[in-house]
Amino acid sequence: MNGIEILGTGSFVPDFIADNDKFSEFLDTSDEWIFPRTGIKQRHIATDIPNYYMGAQAAKNALRDADFDPEAVDCIIVSTCSPDFYYPAMSCLIQKLIGAKNAACFDVNSACTGFITSLDIAHSYLSAGKYDNVLIISSEKLSQQVDYTDRASCILFGDAAGAVLLKSGEKPFYLFLGADGDEFEALYCKANYSANCPWYGDIDKFYENRFDTEHKRSFLVQDGKAVYKFAVNAMANAVKNAINGHYDVSELDLVIPHQANLRIIEKATELLGISSDKVYTNIEHMGNVSSACIPICVNELKKAGRLKPGMKICFVGFGAGLTYGAAVIEV
Ligand code: UT7
Repeated sequence: MNGIEILGTGSFVPDFIADNDKFSEFLDTSDEWIFPRTGIKQRHIATDIPNYYMGAQAAKNALRDADFDPEAVDCIIVSTCSPDFYYPAMSCLIQKLIGAKNAACFDVNSACTGFITSLDIAHSYLSAGKYDNVLIISSEKLSQQVDYTDRASCILFGDAAGAVLLKSGEKPFYLFLGADGDEFEALYCKANYSANCPWYGDIDKFYENRFDTEHKRSFLVQDGKAVYKFAVNAMANAVKNAINGHYDVSELDLVIPHQANLRIIEKATELLGISSDKVYTNIEHMGNVSSACIPICVNELKKAGRLKPGMKICFVGFGAGLTYGAAVIEV
C-alpha cells in the first residue's frame, strides 16, 4: 500500500491567552473546577483576525519548513467547522494569501475529525497519482461559535491552525473513519438562515422540536456527558480499526489524540493498553481547537525533533457528527 510522507509542518497560534481565571471574571467557574476535569489551563483566542488568516499563516509556515514554492502546491484541503463564510471555501481565501495559484481548493467539515478525514482524501489522491503533493490546513476559530454564557462548553475551546504538506511515500499508511449520525444532537452548531423566502411558513417550526431556537440559533450546543461517553469507546475502536491486524497496539511509538479532554484521552488510551508516555498532549496550553489539534501537535513534535525515522505514529480523533477516526503513519 502506498503511504504518505510529511514534507513540512506549520502552525499558527493567536497571541491572546484566556486562562481559566479569565473565565471566573464573568462566569461562576474556577481553575479548581476546570483543570481537574479537563486538563485545560488556558486557550488562545483570535480576537482581531479571521479564521482564514490563521490558516494562511500555518500554511506559509509549513511551506517554509519544506522549502516549497507555493505555486507548486497541487491541492489545498482545508478542514474547518468554523469557517468565516459559507462560501467561498476557506481554502480559496488561503490560496490567495499564500500565492498557491495553481492549486485545486476545497474545504472538508467532519468537525474535530476533519484532519483525519482530510488525510484520507489526500492519501487517496496521492496514491492514485492524481496530485504530486497536497497541503492540508486545519484551521478553527471556535470562539465565533461558542456560547460564552454556557460554562460547561465555553471553557473547552480555543482558536488556532495547523498545516502539513504531504507527498506520496513508500511506507505503510492505514486509516479508518466512522460516524454515528444518530448521535448528532450531542454536539451541533446550527447554521444562520436568512429565512425571508416569501413561500416559507414559520421557519422555526422546521426545527423547534429538535433544537433550541430561542437563543442558541448559531451557538455551539453540547451534551458534554453524551460526547464524553461516545468519545472514549470511539477513540479506542478507531485505533483498532485503523491498525486492523497490521500492527499490534504495543508497536505504536506515539499516539497523537484529538485534544478534547485529558480525561477522555487517558481513559481511551488505558482501554487500548497504551502507556501514557507514548501519548502526546498539548491540551493544557491550547484547549480544544477542533480539527487543528492534531496537526499542531505534529508541528510541535517535529520542531522538538521528536519525530524519528521509522516511528509508527497514530492519530486518533472524534467530533460532531458524531464522527471518529484514526490513522497510522510511519515517518
Ligand atoms: O471535540 C469534542 C468536544 N467535546 C468534548 O470532548 C466534551 C466531552 N465532555 C466533557 O468534557 C465534560 O462533559 C465537560 C467537561 C464538558 C463537563 O463535565 P461534566 O462532569 O459532564 O459536567 P456537567 O455538564 O454534567 O455538569 C456537572 C455540574 C453541573 O452543576 P450541577 O447542576 O450539578 O449543580 C454544572 O452546572 O458541574 C457544573 N459545571 C460547572 N461548574 C463550574 C459545568 N461546567 C462548569 C464549569 N465550572 N465550567
